[in-house]
Amino acid sequence: MAKILITGSTDGLGLMAAELLADAGHAVTLHARNQRRADAASERLPAADHVVVGDLASIDGMRQVAREANSIGRFDAVIHNAGVGYREPRRIQTPDGLSHVFAINVLAPYLLTALITPPNRLVYLSSGMHRAGQPALDDLQWTKRRWDGAQAYSDSKLFDVVLAFAVARRWPGVLSNALDPGWVPTKMGGPGAPDDLSLAAVTQVWLAVSDDPAATVTGNYFYHEQPRDVHPAARSVEVQGALLDGCAQLTGVVLPNP
Ligand SMILES: NC(=O)c1ccc[n+]([C@@H]2O[C@H](COP(=O)([O-])OP(=O)(O)OC[C@H]3O[C@@H](n4cnc5c(N)ncnc54)[C@H](OP(=O)(O)O)[C@@H]3O)[C@@H](O)[C@H]2O)c1
Repeated sequence: MAKILITGSTDGLGLMAAELLADAGHAVTLHARNQRRADAASERLPAADHVVVGDLASIDGMRQVAREANSIGRFDAVIHNAGVGYREPRRIQTPDGLSHVFAINVLAPYLLTALITPPNRLVYLSSGMHRAGQPALDDLQWTKRRWDGAQAYSDSKLFDVVLAFAVARRWPGVLSNALDPGWVPTKMGGPGAPDDLSLAAVTQVWLAVSDDPAATVTGNYFYHEQPRDVHPAARSVEVQGALLDGCAQLTGVVLPNP
């Protein structure tokens, strides 16, 4: 039995992964943005061990999630799943003055990675849209460019792969991978999404707990349990370093050494 934390597990792929893991006998900790959503998640999955609470749109909320997670003890795996989509019609600013998409999709997985006691495995939800991402390290907050929600989302999902690969390189004792779940009909994906929903939570579960040699690798990107090509920037040591530096500046927290 493994102990697994899944961010953004009140709905969609996070909740589906939690259900698969709980059904297989693993100890699952859910995460919700507030107590109301936490209560709803507990009702949906009474088998869950714990629910941690915190709104990932704010740095205080991210810190709260890390604190609550660490109070439960060390996890075997953390699945960084929480995210917001590509349909924001304008640049939404968080209480910290950051781009909402960047804060939730990139800064939160960075800060949680840095603050939560390192598990054996880290899994980051990216997207096929990451291939259209631009590693615009001089405009992470979208203050210089005209807002484009799809581009901001693609950039954020590219940075999720960059983060997964940066952690894989810096923490050789931790398996750190990213994946594309497919475009599926969740709240984010929308009702017309064409891919198979029944497969969309399988790869993150496999990366989190399977002993399959194909799953116990690090610094890889998957789609339906198969390695897939990534945007070349994801493997750039310069881009990785610049993203980690940018996130450290924004949060005041440097990714610790292993
Ligand atoms: N669906 C797709 O087609 C697709 C394709 C490629 C990649 N992905 C990736 O897969 C992951 C999950 O997506 P999904 O389709 O399952 O999305 P979803 O159905 O919209 O669920 C997103 C989850 O994240 C939580 N969340 C969002 N903002 C939050 C915040 N500020 N604080 C705390 N929790 C927050 C949501 O909480 P609430 O329930 O309270 O809103 C929900 O539990 C995302 O990282 C996404 O980028 C999805």
